Amino acid sequence: MQRFWGTVIEPVLEAVQPKIIVEVGSDQGVNTANLLKFCRQTGATLHVIDPAPGYDVSKWQSEYGDCLVFHKELSLNALPSIEDFDVVLIDGDHNWYTVFNELKTVERLCEERSQDFPLVLLHDIGWPYGRRDLYYDPDSIPEEHRKPYDKKGMLPSVPDLVEEGGMNRHLNNAVREHEPKDGVLTAIEDFLGASQYALDLLELPGVHGLGILTPAPLKSQNPDLARLLSELDFSPLVERYVQGVEKARLELQVRQQEERREYQRRLDVESRELRETRQELRQGRQELRQGRRELRQGRQELEQVRRNLREVRQKLKRAHEELRVERQRLKVAEGEIARLVLWIEELGEGIFALSNSRQWKAGHALGALRRKVLRRPEEPATMDRLQAVLEQFRAWRRERNSRAGGSQASGQDQERKEDR
Ligand SMILES: C[S@@+](CC[C@H](N)C(=O)[O-])C[C@H]1O[C@@H](n2cnc3c(N)ncnc32)[C@H](O)[C@@H]1O
Repeated sequence: MQRFWGTVIEPVLEAVQPKIIVEVGSDQGVNTANLLKFCRQTGATLHVIDPAPGYDVSKWQSEYGDCLVFHKELSLNALPSIEDFDVVLIDGDHNWYTVFNELKTVERLCEERSQDFPLVLLHDIGWPYGRRDLYYDPDSIPEEHRKPYDKKGMLPSVPDLVEEGGMNRHLNNAVREHEPKDGVLTAIEDFLGASQYALDLLELPGVHGLGILTPAPLKSQNPDLARLLSELDFSPLVERYVQGVEKARLELQVRQQEERREYQRRLDVESRELRETRQELRQGRQELRQGRRELRQGRQELEQVRRNLREVRQKLKRAHEELRVERQRLKVAEGEIARLVLWIEELGEGIFALSNSRQWKAGHALGALRRKVLRRPEEPATMDRLQAVLEQFRAWRRERNSRAGGSQASGQDQERKEDR
């Protein structure tokens, strides 16, 4: 509605000089801001009705003070609480039930209060909601007045909703247009058909259409208003011309909405991909950090293993050295034992040769005879004692050889040699 401000709304207000203005449907408050500036200049009061305004009302309240009375409600609930109204602007819920009953409520209140019917400006009497319902809040509409609806787009001259593209596919649009009791303009016409008041409807084409409902007495009392309205009442030729311009504008608007939706869709996809990439990047960084931690830990463990290995090698080196020294000692000991064994073997051979010599046998017999003559007791023979020691030596040799294992053959040779 705000697009009509400079060309229609402000001139109408200046002509009417209202004390109380009511605006139904404020949205982002573009038209509301214009109205408030007008009220501040003229000392009028603005009642704004909107259950879901798109701005911070309290800020506006403190800026405009008594000029603004805000009703955060549905229009049909709020209207009866407003005591008087000179001009009403209707641009709230664009469906037959709401608009028809908004006008009916205004009419009823005027009758009850014996007031004049106000001048009423109504937006969206053209396409798409002139002949088709829209429900901002479907649950607020009684079921018998709620038509089947869907969140799908609309195209001019196509009565059904379209599956792809189209206008306002984010809103709850009635499935069909041009039904009975369907749309804003139908609601106005049905109201006018039943109203007791003498009201003139001026239909302005373009920018979705604006209806100006003027009580006949007001027009006759206010020549400025009458002149303005007659200037706005286009000739059929100009009206057709404006409708042609509106048709082209609507086509552009539909295309623009489709492009915006496509752009938004791509933006959503790219945002999602960006979010996923960021997530993967975060995860990658975490894994990298974890990998670095594990690498550091692995290096420390490797360093520890190397230290342990160095220690083991040093121990092994020391053990080798000790082994080499021990082997050296063993070798020396083995050599000495071999020499001793050789000497004992030579001694054994000497004793064997001696005990078999004629000289020793004769000496041994003489000794035995002398002991007999001198009646001396028999002494243990030295040769027997030597033989006993040699026998012990041989037993040690056998045991040693069997322990040595590999050197068994040479041990046996040795024994054979010893046994001789
Ligand atoms: C098309 S926008 C109004 C645009 C505004 N008049 C302008 O010119 O900028 C419709 C607004 O009506 C409000 N609305 C919806 N249903 C309503 C109802 N039953 N009563 C009052 N406001 C309503 C919505 O919250 C929305 O902010």
